[in-house]
Amino acid sequence: MPQRHGPGIGAEIMGSGKFGPPGWQDDPDWQGWWGPEPPFRTPTFVLTHRPRPPVTMAGGTTFHFLDTSPSAALDLARQAADGQDVRIGGGPSLARDFIAAGLVDHIHLVQVPILLGRGVRLWDGLEGLEADYEVEAVSTPSGVTHLTFTRSE
Ligand SMILES: NC(=O)c1ccc[n+]([C@@H]2O[C@H](COP(=O)([O-])OP(=O)(O)OC[C@H]3O[C@@H](n4cnc5c(N)ncnc54)[C@H](OP(=O)(O)O)[C@@H]3O)[C@@H](O)[C@H]2O)c1
Repeated sequence: MPQRHGPGIGAEIMGSGKFGPPGWQDDPDWQGWWGPEPPFRTPTFVLTHRPRPPVTMAGGTTFHFLDTSPSAALDLARQAADGQDVRIGGGPSLARDFIAAGLVDHIHLVQVPILLGRGVRLWDGLEGLEADYEVEAVSTPSGVTHLTFTRSE
């Protein structure tokens, strides 16, 4: 059984909107926000309609760029994770696509009470999601609320 929490992350998937600012695809030198040693330390699959060759960074992160479906991306990430968990790290559009496709066992959503413009509607099209998950909420004095959804057995 794959682990659900903790340190057992063997691969990461993220969307193009998380990897860089709009238009990063036009900059051949762009290697993400995180400097020469990104914190992922695993194979990291970036979904984009404009893929490029992989980039190996210091500290164990290799960025792979894929133009494929969520399920095909997850298959590749699973192979790379070698029995450990695959983390879907956002952004919101990518996370919603993976949740809608039924590919996510555990969701940890952190809601911060700061409003930044209009944003992306994470829950669009996911009506009734709670029927398939155990839902827990933990709030903190700062107003930050942690919501977890764990797929029901
Ligand atoms: N603060 C943070 O850490 C953080 C993180 C992420 C996003 N954000 C913000 O959230 C906002 C919206 O982000 P978002 O939801 O657009 O980001 P996102 O979910 O990371 O990226 C969506 C993009 O990923 C690519 N993509 C997704 N699925 C794909 C597939 N199956 N095949 C090929 N490409 C695929 C497409 O980009 P292409 O155009 O490359 O094809 C798509 O437009 C932005 O304002 C961003 O700044 C913030």
